[in-house]
Amino acid sequence: MSLIKTRILIVGANGLLGQALVNYYSKRKDVELHLSSIEDKFVGNNQFSYSKLDITKRNEVKNLFLDFFPEFVINAAAYTDVDGCEVNREIAWKINVNGVKHLVEGCRVVDAQLVHISTDFIFDGQNGPYHEDDKPNPISYYGRTKFASENEIKMGGIPFLIIRTNVLYGIQKGVKKDFVEWVVENLSSGKQINVVTDQWNNPTYVDDLVNGISLAIDKRKNGIYHIGGLEYLSRYDFALKIAEVFGLEKELINKTTTDKLNQKAKRPLRGGLIILKAQSELGYKPHTLEENLLTIKQKLGK
Ligand SMILES: NC(=O)c1ccc[n+]([C@@H]2O[C@H](COP(=O)([O-])OP(=O)(O)OC[C@H]3O[C@@H](n4cnc5c(N)ncnc54)[C@H](OP(=O)(O)O)[C@@H]3O)[C@@H](O)[C@H]2O)c1
Repeated sequence: MSLIKTRILIVGANGLLGQALVNYYSKRKDVELHLSSIEDKFVGNNQFSYSKLDITKRNEVKNLFLDFFPEFVINAAAYTDVDGCEVNREIAWKINVNGVKHLVEGCRVVDAQLVHISTDFIFDGQNGPYHEDDKPNPISYYGRTKFASENEIKMGGIPFLIIRTNVLYGIQKGVKKDFVEWVVENLSSGKQINVVTDQWNNPTYVDDLVNGISLAIDKRKNGIYHIGGLEYLSRYDFALKIAEVFGLEKELINKTTTDKLNQKAKRPLRGGLIILKAQSELGYKPHTLEENLLTIKQKLGK
C-alpha cells in the first residue's frame, strides 16, 4: 500500500532551527521534504532536494511554491541579529516583513499552511512570561518587524500557525554560536564572562521546539502557540546551570545588568513564554534544562 506523503517546504533550512527541522523531518517516512535557504547549498547532508531561495524575491518564492506545491511551509528564515536590525532597519523590514508577505502570497496561491516562527521580543518585557493573547508592545526594531510579520500572516487569508519561542539553544553547523557554547568555550579556557541578572526567559532547546512545531502540524492546528523551555530563569542562572552540568568554574561568571552592556537594541527584561496551551492542546513535553544540557555536552564530546 502506498503512503500518501505530506509535502513540507522548509524555508531557512541552513539556520539553527532550520537544520534541526531537517534532522527531524528527514526521518519521517510520511513526509516529502524540500529544503530552501538563501545560500547555494544546504550545509548538511546534500541528499535532500534543495532550492536556493531569497524570501525577499517575490518571484523566486512564487516559482518555488508552484514547482513543489507544498501543503505546509515552515518559515525558519529571518534576520535574527537583534542589534543588527536596530541599525539596518531597511534590510530588517525587507527580510522579516516583506519576505514573510511573499510567503503568505505563495501559500495563498498553492493553498498551503504557513508555519511561522516568532518571538517573545514582540512583548515589552514589563511583566512576562506571556500568554498567547497578551498584548504585544515591541521595544526593539527586530521585535517590531516580527510583530509586523505576524500581522501580515493574520491578515493574509491563509491557514497559519504562529509559533513564538525564546532564547533558542542548540548546536548546528555554520550558525552563530548559541549561549551554551559561548559559556562553555569561555569557561573552559579560563576566561571570565559577564552575564546579566535582569533578563528572564525560559530558554528553548531547538529539538524541543521542533517537537512542538511537528505536534502542531500533525494535529492540524491553527493560530498562535508559545513553545519554550520548562524553566523560567535569569540569564545569569542559566550560565550557572551550564557551568554546573559541564563541570566548569562558576566563579568565572560575573553578574552584570542590561544597562551596562550598551547594546544597540533594547531587550525585554521579564520576557519568556507561558507554554500551558502547547502542553494541553498539543501534548508538548519539553525536556528539562539539565537533560538538554547533558545532550549538548555529549554532542560536544565534553
Ligand atoms: N535564536 C533565537 O534565540 C530565537 C528566539 C526567538 C525566536 N527566534 C526565531 O526563530 C526563527 C529561527 O531562528 P534561528 O535562531 O534558527 O535563526 P538563524 O540561525 O539566524 O537562521 C535564520 C536563517 O535565515 C536565513 N536568511 C536570512 N535572510 C534570508 C532571506 N532573505 N531569504 C532566505 N533565508 C534567509 C539566514 O541565512 P544567513 O545566515 O546567511 O543570513 C539563516 O540561515 C527566526 O524566525 C527567529 O526570529 C529565534
